[in-house]
Amino acid sequence: MTPDVSRRPLIVGNWKLWGTRAQAADYCERLSVQADWSADLGVCPPFTALDVCVERLGGSGVAVYAQNMHQESTGAFTGEVSAEMLTELGVDGAVLGHSERRQYNCETDRALQDKVPAALDAGLEPILCVGESEEERERDETQRRLRSQVQEALEKVSDERLPEVVIAYEPIWAIGTGKVATPEIAQDAIAFIRALVGDRSRDAAQAVRILYGGSVKPDNAAEILAQPDVDGALVGGASLDPKGFAEIVAAAAP
Ligand code: PGA
Repeated sequence: MTPDVSRRPLIVGNWKLWGTRAQAADYCERLSVQADWSADLGVCPPFTALDVCVERLGGSGVAVYAQNMHQESTGAFTGEVSAEMLTELGVDGAVLGHSERRQYNCETDRALQDKVPAALDAGLEPILCVGESEEERERDETQRRLRSQVQEALEKVSDERLPEVVIAYEPIWAIGTGKVATPEIAQDAIAFIRALVGDRSRDAAQAVRILYGGSVKPDNAAEILAQPDVDGALVGGASLDPKGFAEIVAAAAP
């Protein structure tokens, strides 16, 4: 599919289980945002440091995302946080369906079907994570897996709102393993995801931003981000160093 120049690159750092409030404040201090970067930038601190980042990064253009969110606005869901609780803090979006939450916290495509529209309705930008396991790739089931994840999670999002969703293709075998996908694998999978969105709406497919995630580092970012359908990156481990993170952003938008 031909790239659309209007898709501005987006680089998001997922801190996972890292970042006390003091560490978050220090990180924000050290993240020097270059005014001439032509990429959008975001960080995903843990819930307890969201307000620190919102406060410290306010006005810098760096978006703050939660790492999860519950689909209901209130109720007997111990340990959960709603969309409204996030917007009240000034949070910009939420990562939804990360493979670690699918693996360790029973996150399902069915729940995501409600989480994605709940985020949009609250004014949060959802980053929907999808990706196949190593076994699925070996069994040639990557497309089947991506199709069911994307179709199910976006089922209740109207065609008009599809461009507001960010999708992150994160092959499970590449997350935290140092085993980055080749640029060709990332491009093929992301073009396939774009075509799935295109089955719903051609315009949405051209506009939706699809990121790659999985062992992105300063030294491998440029060739992945140069692929025509790759609109940015969701970065885990390498985002914990603000200097390295800035190098990845610079690679996206030199
Ligand atoms: P990684 O994590 O960059 O450490 O592989 C990516 C992610 O989980 O989003």
